[in-house]
Amino acid sequence: MSEMAAEQITADGRRIGPVVMEMKNITLRFGGVVAIQDISFDIREGEIRAIIGPNGAGKSSMLNVISGFYVPSEGEVWYKGARRPAMKPYMVARQGIARTFQNIALFEGMSVLDNVMTGRLTRMNSSMWSQALWKGRAEAEEVANREIAEKVIDFLEIQHIRKTPVARLPYGLKKRVELARALAAEPTILLLDEPMAGMNVEEKEDMSRFILDVNDEFGTTIALIEHDMGVVMDLSDRVVVMDYGKKIGDGTPDEVRNNQAVIDAYLGVAHD
Ligand SMILES: Nc1ncnc2c1ncn2[C@@H]1O[C@H](COP(=O)(O)OP(=O)(O)O)[C@@H](O)[C@H]1O
Ligand SMILES: [Mg+2]
Repeated sequence: MSEMAAEQITADGRRIGPVVMEMKNITLRFGGVVAIQDISFDIREGEIRAIIGPNGAGKSSMLNVISGFYVPSEGEVWYKGARRPAMKPYMVARQGIARTFQNIALFEGMSVLDNVMTGRLTRMNSSMWSQALWKGRAEAEEVANREIAEKVIDFLEIQHIRKTPVARLPYGLKKRVELARALAAEPTILLLDEPMAGMNVEEKEDMSRFILDVNDEFGTTIALIEHDMGVVMDLSDRVVVMDYGKKIGDGTPDEVRNNQAVIDAYLGVAHD
């Protein structure tokens, strides 16, 4: 316990808190395909934890286990010191876990603001019935939700497009809107599946900065999947490396960079 509770200070002076999430011996099968094979790792409060690996390694599957979208075939997910039972993704979201998707999943016809507002849905307390019966409370909640959405929009510097339909935005900004929607849920843990995929260099730099700012400003714990090794090495406190469903490395960027199994996986024959 004492080890788990300890705060760590990293080489570059970042404060990392106790373990907030623990994956214990996770296996995930789809029929005959073993997407994840007996993987364990933890995520500490306030850290930026990267999951990397070649295509098909099982990274998105792992993020989907964390978000509750998949229930592991074997193994346990521990969150805030308790074993998490199998639960629906919306229940996991209510516990403070928000995510973005590898392929953007926004409401294209809706404005940026309305999309960000949907991020508040998991947080709304009034049920439909009480909204109908007690208009005042629902209205107060709506105002509070809007304030938070606007705050996130300001923070991510997308005020100028808040009324623009998402369909009209360039790719890089859509990715930022998706980040805004996830942030609007005020998550404890933010899961980002390839937040910079398909971006140009400038867009990547912007996204990297926003990820660091979010972590710094709100103390949000972040688990992210990313292909660009430069980005991963710059952003993350610790890295889990997956290959063919297995964990082949786990440690600081420097440790992982010098791990022979990792080097082999990246320099070896590309597999899809
Ligand atoms: N819903 C699914 N049904 C069947 N197989 C799947 C499903 N999702 C992922 N897989 C398989 O699991 C493996 C890991 O996929 P994925 O987690 O998407 O990898 P990554 O994100 O690292 O590219 C792949 O072999 C993929 O084909
Ligand atoms: Mg993936």
